[in-house]
Amino acid sequence: MTEWKMPLNCHSYKAIVILICTTAALGGLLFGLDQGFIANSLPTIQKVYNLGIEGGESYSAILATGGVIGALLSGFFARFLGRKRSLVLAGFLFVIMSAVSAFLPPISILYACRLGLGFAVGVASFIVPLYLSETAPSSIRGSMGTLFQLMITIGIFLISVTNVMIVKVFTFSQEALPLMFLVIAAFALLMFIGALLLPESPRWLMLKKRRDKAVKVLQKTLNSQSEIDFEIKEIESVIGASRNSLSGILLNRNFIKILIVGVLMQAFQQLVGINLMVYYAPTIFSYVGMNGIVAKLSIPTVFVLFTIPAIWLVEKWGRKKLLYIGAGVMFAAMVFSGVAFLMIGNITNPKLISETPKLILLISSIVYIFGFAFSWGPGAWLVCSEIFPIKSREVGMTITTMVNWTFAGIVMGNALTIMKHFGNYSVFFLFAGFCVLAILFLRFFVPETKGITLEELEFNLNSGKKLKDLGKWKGSSSAVRS
Ligand code: BGC
Repeated sequence: MTEWKMPLNCHSYKAIVILICTTAALGGLLFGLDQGFIANSLPTIQKVYNLGIEGGESYSAILATGGVIGALLSGFFARFLGRKRSLVLAGFLFVIMSAVSAFLPPISILYACRLGLGFAVGVASFIVPLYLSETAPSSIRGSMGTLFQLMITIGIFLISVTNVMIVKVFTFSQEALPLMFLVIAAFALLMFIGALLLPESPRWLMLKKRRDKAVKVLQKTLNSQSEIDFEIKEIESVIGASRNSLSGILLNRNFIKILIVGVLMQAFQQLVGINLMVYYAPTIFSYVGMNGIVAKLSIPTVFVLFTIPAIWLVEKWGRKKLLYIGAGVMFAAMVFSGVAFLMIGNITNPKLISETPKLILLISSIVYIFGFAFSWGPGAWLVCSEIFPIKSREVGMTITTMVNWTFAGIVMGNALTIMKHFGNYSVFFLFAGFCVLAILFLRFFVPETKGITLEELEFNLNSGKKLKDLGKWKGSSSAVRS
């Protein structure tokens, strides 16, 4: 790749970029609505459909199965339909599946709808980070990528609040449950309409040899002709240089190397235990007799609040620093939660449990969410959307997104069972151990991707640089940007 000099005015960006990226990030909102749905609706679902603990656990976990299938196919959708139309497809599925669920169909159909919602979430979790990283100018690519996670947390928050309110107002479960689904359907419609209005990713247009259309999109998102020329030349140089066929991609040594980074990044995002908190925090709190509004809403609220600083910090401090701090904080929080359960021991009557472990558990859960919210939450999706070369981006992200959903399913499907068999504390120490491994992984393998274009990263990868040094750019352009 030729080293092009990045134009000097690249630090400013247009408001329309934020509008475009926020609209695309609505896919994250639906992700969050469906992820967060379970926490405060499970008892209602169990009542209406007469489900036991296992039934509830499998209804929760089927979302992840759909997610894996959606992620698997979204690489094809992204390549052949384009990024925008894949988002429209996800929006459409979100509307249909949640609307059908609102009619309280037979249980098998309800499960099928949850699987379909998972499928749509899988597609969205693939397409949104990809679209954002390909469409946002490089100086704010990290911030815009973080919008995805922010939307996820807003979705979790909204659905938790509305579900708590619905249950309060409509005490009859047969009335409450349809409303819960209709809330999701309404937001899904918003996302669907928003996706229809989005421009296509300029990088996909270039891949499809629609240079004129790509220039038109870049005219919307960039400030000057020189920036547009720079971007087009960079994209053209990597498109011309790299291979295309699936076997060519999968056998490429550099691709395999960077794939391992992406796979571990997404596996660790789940193995640090986030979905234990997202799905089961109210259940865990109820084990120690905390059933009130604080137990139900503290996690979602903290989640949104602490994701917001990431939008700014990810560009200021870079991705790796946030990931290190996050893993350290989560480690400490998991250890404290484990200790709280050790203090509780075998006491099962919440009334006999003293206040100290309860307080430790509440505080460490909040600290844990703080640790995840600004770091691994946005960071894993962001890094995976940045590290792959343009022609293997869909394949790389298909695999890494599937890994995320597979591990999410493993955690969701087994966490409560591990607690039951090995003691409530065990799962927390297990996740703390994974936080340590995540730190070692960061230290030795993960590149800092702040302040470098996607094409420069690709150039570094192809020139055989060490993985952790891929974000270092010898040319003058990154110096201009950082
Ligand atoms: C994770 C999900 C998690 C969500 C919570 C996402 O980044 O991939 O598994 O439920 O964050 O906000």
